[in-house]
Amino acid sequence: MKTTQRPFFLLTLFSATLLCHLQPIPAVRTYSDHTETNVNDFIRTSCGTTLYPDLCYNSLSRYSNAVQQNPAQLARIAIAVSLSKARHMTSYVSNLTRQADYRANSRATSALHDCFSNLGDAVDEIRGSLKQMRQLGAAGAGAESFRFQMSNVQTWMSAALTDEETCTDGFEDVPEGTVKVDVCDRVTKVKKLTSNALALVNSFAANGTP
Ligand SMILES: *[C@@H]1O[C@H](CO)[C@@H](O)[C@H](O)[C@H]1NC(C)=O
Repeated sequence: MKTTQRPFFLLTLFSATLLCHLQPIPAVRTYSDHTETNVNDFIRTSCGTTLYPDLCYNSLSRYSNAVQQNPAQLARIAIAVSLSKARHMTSYVSNLTRQADYRANSRATSALHDCFSNLGDAVDEIRGSLKQMRQLGAAGAGAESFRFQMSNVQTWMSAALTDEETCTDGFEDVPEGTVKVDVCDRVTKVKKLTSNALALVNSFAANGTP
């Protein structure tokens, strides 16, 4: 028994020694810095096709490690960012509806309730898009299946954008006030992120491969 374990022990020792010697090689770090620059250039260039390129770059550059130079990953992460913001906004509006005084300003209160419902729909649609992006290529990875999956994502992200738009439109007849200004400003920011994610999805769908 002891003799059969011996070669394995030596091999393990050898591997450990090899790893210890490999780790501090400075070339690895230089290479990774170089790659990060390329990834940031890739994100900036891709964001150039969106309506809000600066917001796009600022919201996505922190995920450069996950993005690499992969347009599918970039679109997927942009969707995840817009999902997170839409979810947060839904919770924010939900809190406002609980504080709203029904008698004092019924038009604002009703706009707030409608907005909560629109945002809930948007969250569902963006969540569905993210799920579809995660399954991309899983079912056989044929070109036809890729087009079908991407058209689902495009449809749902467009619907989410429309729902967010419906929220702000609902405040049109509401007299100017802090709640109206606050909600519209915040939802407009979420709308921009959704619009950017949709643009990245559209360019990936047009140029991407399964
Ligand atoms: C909504 O209210 C809950 C409970 O007070 C709080 O924990 C949460 O952070 C609020 N959400 C937002 C987005 O402000």
